[in-house]
Amino acid sequence: MGKKHRTLLLLLGLLALPALGRNDNYFPDKDLTTVGVYYYPEQWNASEWDRDFKKMAELGFEFTHIGEFAWAQLEPEEGVYRFAWLDKAIELAAKNKLKVILCTSTATPPVWLTRKYPEILITNENGTKLDHGARQHASFSNPLYKELSLRMIVELAKRYGKDNRIIGWQLDNEPAVQYDYGPAAEKGFRNFLRQKYGTIDSLNAAWGTAFWSQVYSRFDEITLPKLSMMFMNPHQIMDYRRFAAQQTTSFLDSQSNCIKQYAIPQQFVTSNFIPNYEEGHIGDCKELDFYSYTRYMVFGDQTGVGVKGFRVGDPLRISYANDFFRPINGIYGVMELQPGQVNWGEVNAQPLPGAVRLWLWSVFAGGSDFTCAYRFRQPLAGMEQYHYGIVGTDGVTTTRGGLEYSRFIQEINLLRKAYYAPRLHVPASYKARQAAILFNHENAWNIDRQKQNKYWDTEAHIQHYYAALKSFGAPVDVIREKEDFRKYPFLIVPAYQLIDDGLVARWKAYAAAGGHLVFTCRTGQKDRFGRFFEGKFGYKLFDLIGAEFDFFDLQHPESPGCVRMDNQSYQWYTWGEVFIPDKGTEVWGTYQDDFYTGKAAIIHHTYGKGTVTYVGVDSKNGDLEKEVLKKVYNLAHVPVLDLPRGVLVEYRNGFGIALNYADTVYQFPLPANAQVLIGKNPLSTTDVLVWKEK
Ligand code: GAL
Repeated sequence: MGKKHRTLLLLLGLLALPALGRNDNYFPDKDLTTVGVYYYPEQWNASEWDRDFKKMAELGFEFTHIGEFAWAQLEPEEGVYRFAWLDKAIELAAKNKLKVILCTSTATPPVWLTRKYPEILITNENGTKLDHGARQHASFSNPLYKELSLRMIVELAKRYGKDNRIIGWQLDNEPAVQYDYGPAAEKGFRNFLRQKYGTIDSLNAAWGTAFWSQVYSRFDEITLPKLSMMFMNPHQIMDYRRFAAQQTTSFLDSQSNCIKQYAIPQQFVTSNFIPNYEEGHIGDCKELDFYSYTRYMVFGDQTGVGVKGFRVGDPLRISYANDFFRPINGIYGVMELQPGQVNWGEVNAQPLPGAVRLWLWSVFAGGSDFTCAYRFRQPLAGMEQYHYGIVGTDGVTTTRGGLEYSRFIQEINLLRKAYYAPRLHVPASYKARQAAILFNHENAWNIDRQKQNKYWDTEAHIQHYYAALKSFGAPVDVIREKEDFRKYPFLIVPAYQLIDDGLVARWKAYAAAGGHLVFTCRTGQKDRFGRFFEGKFGYKLFDLIGAEFDFFDLQHPESPGCVRMDNQSYQWYTWGEVFIPDKGTEVWGTYQDDFYTGKAAIIHHTYGKGTVTYVGVDSKNGDLEKEVLKKVYNLAHVPVLDLPRGVLVEYRNGFGIALNYADTVYQFPLPANAQVLIGKNPLSTTDVLVWKEK
């Protein structure tokens, strides 16, 4: 938050609604959620704006999102600003009772800027430069680009920061971590290293440069690491990724600070992040009021359930994003959700009828505050020609997806009238299953450059555990280290390679106090610089897990290994750790192949009032992980559901919500006291069931 008035606002919010645990000021909890839609007035004839806003309002949308890529229209020449058109658009939106989210346009600098200051362009690793004619070609590491951006943003904030028709701001568009190889980025990287290490000797020690004559005598000798060079120093790459992520967060923070100097406290500042969890910039801005994400569900991938599952999408795609973004500070929304076909996928298929509504309910189920449709009108020209809108190419006919949006909005209106319980009001049986997954993107970065098995995939590994938890009907928070994890009865720590003594001590305290800690393979091997500890491999965890590591092994996918647990066999090939358990440590799973047949793969013991389980193996399909977690929950006497793949359940505001992404009909085990408000049981593909429990 940063600013005094915001802190005050937050305090007031907390006082007013102590049970809620979230700042309720931007999005009143009683509204449950709100739905908006993207509009690019600059793309359309001004005579059509009023008609378009009217149509949005008729369909039930409550806000519109404008000014996202309009720098060329806002500042057509350097220092010359034109706001009349935007004034007019805001006025017409307000006339139609639509609130407005305004944006900062920094993803699309105008051509005068790029031609006058070509040094702002991103340079690729191979030396080629990006150019005007697409978007997102300017470097966040370039001080001049920052300066020009902030100058324009100050003008915007001065004009609209006091305007209560504007509910908030979106910075840039899908701000990503950039790998710019231009001179400004290189200079920035050297300064970053100077600040981090102080002396070149400590950098040399951290990067292990004594090997291969890599030793540096001055910071000025260091260049940006070439990611395409196979043997590039992995420690240097980690620092480069840290630097690059920081460039993005600091650009966003400066934008936010500019706006907040002029904005009334009711206006929020956020940005719309692609849920690329491993990029490393999500959650680290200091000046955003909350985070939103963008999500596309149908674009040709085959990750849905069944042969036509690609029309519905991966059942965990929205759910995981919800569980990743919500814990950042309790408020989140989805800033872009497709209403139909996209234009950029490999196979831009039609979503299955009902899928758009299913996604909207999935976003809602996670506890979100808003969803915004991308986009209102299908464009007639330009890169997004084939992209569906809420209305089609005539600008007036509502698309099938548009109708599904409208239906969802009507259903929310019905719920708003029917009943109200606070956001965190959920049944005790659901709450008891609460788990957290501890996540630090740096683990994935480090593993990425030294996989040891090309088939290893950190995100897929985490998803094995996540999918199991969701099949239990468990609420899950994906949390960062700075969170206090003591409030979670179950804590999963997957492939947590980089550790320090402080973190190990916190894990010990967690288990000792009664927490159920589940470590998974590749945990605890290295320090924060990515170096092994001098001692037995992984020794920092020995005491906590009740075993020593013997070694790890890898198999080929065509001849996988086998682990046995409770008389069942499970295949694996990506990673397997072999343990020497202490006396008193239970062995839950053993290897069945090679020279380590019969040795421990999965171990478990009690630790203080809690338990510690270490799953040393990554199974082929996640079935083993599910059985391990089931055992952990059983031992803790916490009953779980057994939902088939594609069926999900969540609770919020006292509502239960079941979602069916599967290709089969499913009879949801509704509690006896459930009163169905929306939908019917059993659920067909794309069906949604909403109930409250009396
Ligand atoms: C998003 C992007 C939007 C739009 C959309 C099309 O990734 O943020 O600006 O291009 O894709 O699906």
